Amino acid sequence: MAFSTDRPRRLRRTAALRRLVEQTRLHPADFVLPLFVKEGLAEPQDVASMPGVQQHSLESLRKAASEAVSAGVGGLILFGIPETKDATGTGADAEAGIVQQALRALRSDLGDSTVLMADLCLCEYTDHGHCGPMTSDSATVDNDVTLMRYASVARAQVEAGADVIAPSGMMDGQVGVIRDAIDSAGYADRAILAYAAKYSSAFYGPFRDAAESTPSFGDRRGYQMDPANADEALREVFADIEQGADAVMVKPAGPYLDVIARVASVVDLPVAAYQVSGEYAMLEAAAANGWIERERAIVESVTAIKRAGAQTILTYWATELAASLR
Ligand code: PBG
Repeated sequence: MAFSTDRPRRLRRTAALRRLVEQTRLHPADFVLPLFVKEGLAEPQDVASMPGVQQHSLESLRKAASEAVSAGVGGLILFGIPETKDATGTGADAEAGIVQQALRALRSDLGDSTVLMADLCLCEYTDHGHCGPMTSDSATVDNDVTLMRYASVARAQVEAGADVIAPSGMMDGQVGVIRDAIDSAGYADRAILAYAAKYSSAFYGPFRDAAESTPSFGDRRGYQMDPANADEALREVFADIEQGADAVMVKPAGPYLDVIARVASVVDLPVAAYQVSGEYAMLEAAAANGWIERERAIVESVTAIKRAGAQTILTYWATELAASLR
């Protein structure tokens, strides 16, 4: 019996050999931390479906942001929850809106030591929970009326100091309209990270608790992508690049590694992926039950996302990961 002389195990024999040939290496700057800040909150509130994640007050936000930056994360992305909601989401572009307040506070605390991103959507600000104003028959989100709202929100966010605007509403034409709006407001130097391939996913469930953005009727399938589609992701990505995106995102991350890999193989700008709330909640729940090794599973999950081709990973574990890599 002739055994194979091909022995891949030679390079796995010791930790030092494995380290030498490791192809995907994580770095603190790979990670962007999503943060929720709620208007009128005196004390931070735990998010039940996301153990370890909180809705922040302005005070606790500043602390969490400083901790993340000290740990070395690549950036922060802010989500706001307003005190009052209405049909058009007026809290989103108010000069004293909660995200604008947060951006100013964090800029004054942190200067240019980190990248401040603002998620741009209206679902946290509308009373119906959809990502923009509805058509008059309430059948769907009015695409072009919503674009005008997004232009105004983008201006408010850059004026408050955002380095990066990250539109997540999946309205057609949103990147181009936002690019025009911030250019003409004198902020041609601010970047757009487009949520380009964003799927209509059940894995956003816990986020909607955290952001208080569950639609009061219907769902988002009329604007977010069908999880069954992959080619369409490229169409969305190329459209956003054409409209002026500086970087593109695939979301969710773990269940869409094939999409990340395809996007990364065809674009020549940075590719980000969002490890979403459901990905976080599942792993934390399994770990809390003793069914999975928590730290190893977290590292494996983000390594897989980077291996697939994402150079930036938005993850609720950003601070913990960055600190452990330091
Ligand atoms: C929309 C938005 C969502 C997420 C980020 N931006 C939710 C949605 O589309 O319903 C989800 C993030 C997560 O699940 O962690 N503003």
